[in-house]
Amino acid sequence: MVHLTRRKKSNGTFVWSAESYREFCVTFLAANKIDISGKYNYQFGIFNGTSLRWIYEMYRFYHLSPEKILAFDSFEGLPEEQEGIPRLSGHSKGAYNVKAIENYKKDSPHQIIDKIKATLPDNLISIDWHIGFFEQILTESFMDTNPRPAFWVDIDVDLYISTIQVLDFMLRKHLIVPSTIVSFDDWGATEEYKGGESLAWKEMCEKYSVSAKEIHCNRQGTDCQIVYIVDSIG
Ligand SMILES: C[S@@+](CC[C@H](N)C(=O)[O-])C[C@H]1O[C@@H](n2cnc3c(N)ncnc32)[C@H](O)[C@@H]1O
Repeated sequence: MVHLTRRKKSNGTFVWSAESYREFCVTFLAANKIDISGKYNYQFGIFNGTSLRWIYEMYRFYHLSPEKILAFDSFEGLPEEQEGIPRLSGHSKGAYNVKAIENYKKDSPHQIIDKIKATLPDNLISIDWHIGFFEQILTESFMDTNPRPAFWVDIDVDLYISTIQVLDFMLRKHLIVPSTIVSFDDWGATEEYKGGESLAWKEMCEKYSVSAKEIHCNRQGTDCQIVYIVDSIG
């Protein structure tokens, strides 16, 4: 059964909710019976775990069993954007610091993670947590954990600099491969290809000669989420 999230507008028509691109990704995997064995789901940008829980529930709904979800966040909010690159005013340094939420004020990252885990319906899908700023954790010591290539990389990190760090590492280390799905939550945060996730994707596709097909786009005004599937690299 295909179950997609829609929001009813006052004029009676429906639009896809922002969360629907993640629902699209899991539905795409299930409907096309894509072989996800031996590969991982990389989630960049966890905050208080809302989207992670959503994705987890979707996997359970479709009886999909990824070997691992890898969850990455500083849990300290956004870093500074690269100088000269535009960003949304709300995407300033420290935005999305989980500790700004009353319920998490005194928590360490491990306590935040325990609270997120407690909201998941079960613990049947293994999640590896990687705490820290991407430039500090996407290193050779991460490679020592023997990471597998991604069947899906979900990027919800708001900024150009963070997206570049993720994509450059994932492509350099051959963790994004042909058939990897790459999704972006904040594609519309800046004018397309002038900043943010869209500019980072364009530059990294050029640097690594990535050819990818757009398979989903949810655009509502300036808000936009987009999903690609990689055809070939190099
Ligand atoms: C918009 S929030 C993610 C929201 C989450 N996906 C959800 O929908 O529930 C963006 C997250 O990305 C993280 N982030 C952005 N850039 C980062 C970086 N360079 N290193 C580590 N974490 C980063 C922030 O800490 C923040 O929690």
